[in-house]
Amino acid sequence: MRLEFERHTAVITGAASGLGRAIAEKLHASGARIALLDLQAEPLQQVAAELGNDAEAFAVDITDEMQVNETIARIGERFGQIDILVNSAGVTGRTGIRSEEVESADLHFVFDVNFFGSFYTARAVLPWMLRRNYGRILHIASIAGKEGNAGMLAYSASKAAVIGMTKVQGKEYAETGITINALAPAVIRTAMVEAMPESQVKYMTDKIPMKRCGTLEEIAHIAAFIVSPGTSFTTGFTFDMTGGRATY
Ligand SMILES: NC(=O)c1ccc[n+]([C@@H]2O[C@H](COP(=O)([O-])OP(=O)(O)OC[C@H]3O[C@@H](n4cnc5c(N)ncnc54)[C@H](O)[C@@H]3O)[C@@H](O)[C@H]2O)c1
Repeated sequence: MRLEFERHTAVITGAASGLGRAIAEKLHASGARIALLDLQAEPLQQVAAELGNDAEAFAVDITDEMQVNETIARIGERFGQIDILVNSAGVTGRTGIRSEEVESADLHFVFDVNFFGSFYTARAVLPWMLRRNYGRILHIASIAGKEGNAGMLAYSASKAAVIGMTKVQGKEYAETGITINALAPAVIRTAMVEAMPESQVKYMTDKIPMKRCGTLEEIAHIAAFIVSPGTSFTTGFTFDMTGGRATY
C-alpha cells in the first residue's frame, strides 16, 4: 500500500511536545521523513528515537534568525527537498492579566516566538519549495487570534499576526503549487495549557459548544489533511478546530 506522505520531507517546529509531536507522529506513520525542531533538545531526541528511521532531531531556537537559516539549509541538503512545514512551536507568555498589566518584554517575547519564529522558518523553506513548485505550509495559530481571549493580549495579538501572515503568504504563492494555511484550535490539554492559570483555562473551555477539549488525535488528523497533496485548492485560509466556537 502506498503511504500518503511517502517521499515527502516535513519540517515540524515545537516537535518535542503537544501538537507538534502528535503531528510529527502522524506524518511519520504516513510515510514522511521528518525533521523535528525544538528548543528542548532532550525530549526532542526522545521523540526522534521513538519514531526511529527517517526522523531526525534539530535543536534550535526559532527566534534566532541565523540558527533557523542554518538549520533549514542543513535539512534541505540532508534530505534534498522540503515539502512540508508545520509551525507548532509557540508560547503563551503571561496570561490571566489585563492590558494595563502587560509588560512590553513579555509582549516582545511572545511575538518573537509565535510570529517571528513562524516567519523565519517559512521564509527559509520557501526557496526549497519553489525549486520544485510544490509545498505545504501550516502555521498553528489559535482561536485567540480570531476572537481575542481576554487576559491573553500578547498571545491573541501574536496569533492574529500569524493569521494575517497566512493570508498574505497564501496570495503571494498562490500560483506556485505551494499552499500556506493556518489552523485555529480552541483548547487541547498539553503542557502549554497545564501551565496556564486554571481560571484562564476555564474561561476558554466554557466557550466551546461541544463542552470538551480537542484531542491530539483530532489535531493530527486535520493537520495531515491540510498538508496532504490533495488539499490543493485552499490557501491563505485559517481552518477551524474549536468544537463549534467559531462558525466563520
Ligand atoms: N494546546 C492548546 O490548547 C492550543 C490551542 C490553540 C493553539 N495552540 C498552539 O499550538 C502550538 C503548540 O502548542 P502546544 O499546546 O503543543 O504547546 P507545548 O508547550 O506542548 O509545545 C510547544 C513546543 O514549542 C517549543 N518552543 C517554544 N519556544 C520555542 C523556540 N523559541 N524555539 C523552538 N521551539 C520552541 C517548546 O519547547 C515546546 O516543545 C502553539 O503554537 C500553540 O500556541 C495550542
